[in-house]
Amino acid sequence: MDYKQYITIVEDWPQEGIRFKDITTLMQNGTAYKRAVEELAVYAKEKQADVIVGPEARGFVVGCPIATELEIGFVPVRKKGKLPREVIEANYGLEYGKDCLTIHKDSIQPGQRVVITDDLLATGGTIEATAKMVEQLGGKVVGIAFLIELAYIGGRDKLKQYDLFSLMSYE
Ligand code: PRP
Repeated sequence: MDYKQYITIVEDWPQEGIRFKDITTLMQNGTAYKRAVEELAVYAKEKQADVIVGPEARGFVVGCPIATELEIGFVPVRKKGKLPREVIEANYGLEYGKDCLTIHKDSIQPGQRVVITDDLLATGGTIEATAKMVEQLGGKVVGIAFLIELAYIGGRDKLKQYDLFSLMSYE
């Protein structure tokens, strides 16, 4: 399926010079959304994932349906101050801005096979921070799956040690 036809490119948002890739128009199409999730779920299954981990908010949109499709658990990564129990944290730089991510300390069991999912790979900062926390908890990052990769930003270089899969790439 040509998924790109369902992505809307918004010029100069949220800042001038950024060509924002809006996935909400893909989500609005039930068939395209379902197929995209299914393809990413096949990848996660091949990687024999025990659990899916995804960062808020758009990582939930991708990761939660993959987890239910495979009947495995989903672990949320959230911005600081949002998770109610004991967390570990990691700082990261975004394509535009900086933030701190957290994950519940008891959410990953040592040795668990983890597939991380997100809507989009830009600089790779979000996923690098997520992977570090998973590894700190003893999880093994066996793959990372995205809807979209912005290849021209080069986030893949930051994630060289991992297996990456993306449904769409923008050069
Ligand atoms: C966006 C996007 C990815 C991340 C990609 O999330 O959903 O998670 O940025 O950028 P990076 O590869 O440079 O780290 P954002 O932090 O805007 O949060 P949101 O999903 O809550 O909008």
